[in-house]
Amino acid sequence: MKILLIGSGGREHALAWHLKKNPQVKLISAPGSPALAALGETVQIAPDNISALTILARQRKPDLTVIGPEVPLVLGLTDLLRSEGFLVFGPSGRAAQIEGSKVFAKDFMVRHNLPTASYAVFYDFEEAKQYLEAASYPLVLKADGLAQGKGVIICGKLEAALKAICTLSGLGAGKRMLVEEYLAGEESSFFVITDGKTVLPLPSAQDHKTIYDNDCGPNTGGMGAYCPAPLISPHLKNTIMETIIKPAVTGLATEGTPFSGLLYAGLMVTLNGPKLLEFNARFGDPETQALMPLLKSDLAEVFLATAEGRLEDIKLEWSDQSAATVVMSAEGYPGAYRKGDLITGIDKARERPNVEVFEAGVEYRQEGRSLNRYTNGGRVLAVTGLGDNLQKAVDTAYEAVSDIKWAGAHYRRDIGSKALHQNLLYSP
Ligand code: AMP
Ligand code: GLY
Repeated sequence: MKILLIGSGGREHALAWHLKKNPQVKLISAPGSPALAALGETVQIAPDNISALTILARQRKPDLTVIGPEVPLVLGLTDLLRSEGFLVFGPSGRAAQIEGSKVFAKDFMVRHNLPTASYAVFYDFEEAKQYLEAASYPLVLKADGLAQGKGVIICGKLEAALKAICTLSGLGAGKRMLVEEYLAGEESSFFVITDGKTVLPLPSAQDHKTIYDNDCGPNTGGMGAYCPAPLISPHLKNTIMETIIKPAVTGLATEGTPFSGLLYAGLMVTLNGPKLLEFNARFGDPETQALMPLLKSDLAEVFLATAEGRLEDIKLEWSDQSAATVVMSAEGYPGAYRKGDLITGIDKARERPNVEVFEAGVEYRQEGRSLNRYTNGGRVLAVTGLGDNLQKAVDTAYEAVSDIKWAGAHYRRDIGSKALHQNLLYSP
């Protein structure tokens, strides 16, 4: 089975690593990364160059294309490929608007009665300013379009909100902005795979968004994850499926934009139950690096069945272990970060049992007889440990992290600690 995988990050490395467990899978990645080049061919085409990617598909005729990042989904790569008869794991451009436009997503949530924060939409600064002057705080300001995790600002008071409007206007993520009620609670990521009809939930996962321990500092793409998340009890999982996921999948289908692929619900579990913060139209990063080592089913078969609309035939099988993923980032991230530092210890970490190291911002250089790895991105590595319980998984991940070194390496020391010292307030 020839699979074209779009993307280059740690998430794609984890997907590719699992896909290659099936010996029949031949992988082509675009643009890929050095780690992906070790698993198959790579072709240097940027994920937003959807016409070049379509030409690549025409030339290589993959049996399946798997789209990792949101940008090509929102640009409509799936539609282009499907119109030429190719099978794709990933939603259409219109269905991906559930991630691509926050206004579209919120309006959709309200149309289908999905629990979410109340909100107002503004088209211009003056109108928003008047609203903000009369509002009570805290509240949350959001840019409408894709903003690489920078489009959300939580404001404790009016002055911060007025500053936030200026920041969001400068992001180039569309002209519209949302002002949202602030929700207090505990966040969790909830993933399902769906072909638009059948919906298969994945084990719950929890991300760690901020750069520093105890949820301090600016937001990042994600600094660590664990899976499953004890916060999501079987009862809560059922509530999420019945009040959020199933009505969303049905709603998208009845509105003529059936969703096929991975639907990611970003949730805030509040004292009044789970509320939707956002939808994403793709796998989470780094949650995928925690999830994949727990999946026992053949991922290629799952993706193919989704693309062919026969997910009802599939049963997902999971290990009953826990996984913890610690992201190691470069000095300066999520601001301007340093590149080109020599990384040591990855191979040593990989020799440990129950450890996987997924590479994101890593460059390889052949130096004499040795192939050396250097930092080449903000989030550099995701180190996953497995264990019979979360504590063991966390310990294993941190032991492996201690093997890996470069100048300026940073990682959070508290991945999983919220789950290990769970605040019962939020456990219904
Ligand atoms: P989003 O891109 O919508 O997921 O927002 C990024 C982060 O901002 C979320 O992961 C939350 O931590 C926070 N956030 C977003 N919306 C709200 C809200 N209404 N109340 C509290 N925190 C929020
Ligand atoms: N882990 C957050 C995201 O993938 O959006």
